Amino acid sequence: MTDRDRAGAPQVDLATLVAPDFFDDPYPTYARLREQGPVVSVAGTRTHLVIGFDEAYHVLRHHEIYSSAGERRIVGSDGVAAPDAFQLVLITDDPPRHTRLRGLVNRAFTPARVRDLEPFIRSVVEQLVAQFARGERELDIVADLTVPLPVTVIATLLGIPPADGGRFKRWSSALISAQQGSARAGELMEMAAYIMGALRARRAAPAEDLITALAAAEIDGERLQDIEILGLAVLLLVAGNETTTNLIGNMLNVLADRPDLWARLRDDRTLIEPFIEETLRFDSPVQSLPRVTLTETVLGGVTLPAGTQIHVCYGAANRDPAAFAEPDTFRLDRELSRHVAFGTGIHYCLGAPLARAEARLALDVLLDRFGELRRGPTAALRQRASHIVRGFQMLPVVLGE
Ligand code: HEM
Repeated sequence: MTDRDRAGAPQVDLATLVAPDFFDDPYPTYARLREQGPVVSVAGTRTHLVIGFDEAYHVLRHHEIYSSAGERRIVGSDGVAAPDAFQLVLITDDPPRHTRLRGLVNRAFTPARVRDLEPFIRSVVEQLVAQFARGERELDIVADLTVPLPVTVIATLLGIPPADGGRFKRWSSALISAQQGSARAGELMEMAAYIMGALRARRAAPAEDLITALAAAEIDGERLQDIEILGLAVLLLVAGNETTTNLIGNMLNVLADRPDLWARLRDDRTLIEPFIEETLRFDSPVQSLPRVTLTETVLGGVTLPAGTQIHVCYGAANRDPAAFAEPDTFRLDRELSRHVAFGTGIHYCLGAPLARAEARLALDVLLDRFGELRRGPTAALRQRASHIVRGFQMLPVVLGE
């Protein structure tokens, strides 16, 4: 399967990486590749994959060599870009702009704010669970819980009234799939206009929400520009929804095969946190994101010229046997937060406390309410083929009393 490129780096065929069985389960491929080396070049492209833990960690910690600045446009799975007003910020920025934006958003998006939100998050989960079909009936936990939960939470954080939640969900899924066609582009523009309208309204009458906080956030007398606030709102939708949906789905997918774990978690809720961390490691919701080298450098014994595109494979790094004993076994006794599922360094996930809180409260409510969780008779459906995110499009389960 592997060869060496002219620079001596192990090489993988693009065909291997786009094969359906790679998307079903990429980990055996990563394991075979890792035996050849931690940094692999993709034949016929200028891309390298970073699949070793230490190497991924190194890249994430050295933004002065490995830049995040690159494609700002949001490109859908169909390859079509969203309208120009929708530009990603922060995650596609290097210092100094990254430092400035992150400083401003950090002030608005604090862990204390997330803690204050916890009763609300629990109430959203309880309302969604109350609508589940009763008895021994199958339900799609993705449609009924894991998709609506993060969208509702983000909308509320931003200050979108519950009455507008439906529209907001439609817009955010338009954004996520970014399938254009005039109707889709129209929806995105509608959303931009809505956020700009909300911003104007909050400037006139400040409220206790993130849009107000972003409008007011100031460092050295400098405020965010409107286009940056729009970009940040869009980033929160893109970065915060699908990822959290996938984390909760991946957790329930593990539990659907492990009635023993469901019972243990029910009896001892202190295990919920290690369970979440192990799911993040074992089946990382974000599998990879790009960087580009600013200077020539050597990584994992491979020379990378300036301008080399690389993909940091968080999911592969989290299965590296050099960092985790028995990496393919799901274990609750590992050292917490050693994984890179939320990245590390200056781009470390801003929403990690929120994602963890949503996952914890969702599981806690389900464990309170249901004695067992089983796989439904309908087959689960993995998300569309993506190298970036990993989760379920449909996950049928049966929840028993
Ligand atoms: C389980 C859920 C989540 C996962 C696995 C995840 C994963 C990640 C990862 C790997 C990064 C680092 C990107 C990089 O290295 O370039 C990141 C950054 C980011 N995440 Fe998350 N994320 C999750 C949930 C959220 C949520 C709920 C929000 C917000 C509501 C959020 C907002 C962000 C933002 C704004 C950044 C960019 C930070 C920066 O560039 O400084 N994420 N996330």
